[in-house]
Amino acid sequence: MAGSELLTLAHLSDLHLPTVGGFGPRHWTLKRTLGYLNWQRGRKRWFTRGAVDALVKDMAQQRPDHIALTGDLVNLGLPSELAAARSFLEDLGSPDEVSVVPGNHDIYVPLQRDPGVARWRDYMASDAFGREIMAGIRVRRDGFPYVRRRGRIALIGLNSSLPMPPFVAAGLLGGEQLTALERILGLIRQRGLVRVVMIHHPPLAGLASRRRGLHDAQLFADVLARSGAELVLHGHNHTNTLAWTKGAHGAVPVVGVAAGGMSGAGKRSHALGRYNLMRFTDSGGTLGIELVGRGFSAPGGEVMELERKSLAMLGAGDAADPVTA
Ligand SMILES: [Fe+2]
Ligand SMILES: [Fe+2]
Repeated sequence: MAGSELLTLAHLSDLHLPTVGGFGPRHWTLKRTLGYLNWQRGRKRWFTRGAVDALVKDMAQQRPDHIALTGDLVNLGLPSELAAARSFLEDLGSPDEVSVVPGNHDIYVPLQRDPGVARWRDYMASDAFGREIMAGIRVRRDGFPYVRRRGRIALIGLNSSLPMPPFVAAGLLGGEQLTALERILGLIRQRGLVRVVMIHHPPLAGLASRRRGLHDAQLFADVLARSGAELVLHGHNHTNTLAWTKGAHGAVPVVGVAAGGMSGAGKRSHALGRYNLMRFTDSGGTLGIELVGRGFSAPGGEVMELERKSLAMLGAGDAADPVTA
């Protein structure tokens, strides 16, 4: 590969780790009941721990420098699930090695007197660089956005998830988070770093229906158009997509990855389990981003390389509208 290596970032999403017991009558909201029926009816056959374990094993062999996990670790947002996911994270890597943003299945219903996804707080927190960048910027009570630096790459974690009514899987960033994001993107660009934004929901209008999409996607696109970013990573759609959106300094690639827990017995509209390696290189001051997709090519098969493409080359034009490829 041409150029010097900056970082290899693994992108994994939507594990939907099998639901564990430990819930009583007070946990049964209408939304959870419907979600549980949905799980029993099909999802528990499609999403398996075996698929997740095979992907994680292969990923460890590829030795990425860092892992970005873009939400939906669990299914019903139950305290027992969130605690089990904490154990999963600890097995996956230390908080220094793994950055997480929550999905709509992690923040599923309002929780009273329970820490919820704050159980994962040290995997969703700014490091010393981030705290310096965030000085003077309002951070929400839940700690978002957060910023971490790995070499010449800055990771920005957003929370697009909040409890929604039954049958609604939409997301929202909100004005406070978008205002903070715009300032962060500007400050990190001044430092000459590569900006990678992590969000659960597909962040562009047209990538998901209104019932499942990000309600303030247009405002997010406006922030990117004014401030730019080098890469956006998301989950939620359970498909492999590459879209482009207008950025202040050139088109911004927006990459969605299939559900990591998808074993292959599932819906045809969902892709088989996969993760992406994003390899960042610098050749004479020009950033290169290579995407290497690894996952299952057939149900129950081995994890293998499925795709390899250079995003920098594909992004030579300036996208006026999001285009999926
Ligand atoms: Fe999901
Ligand atoms: Fe989701």
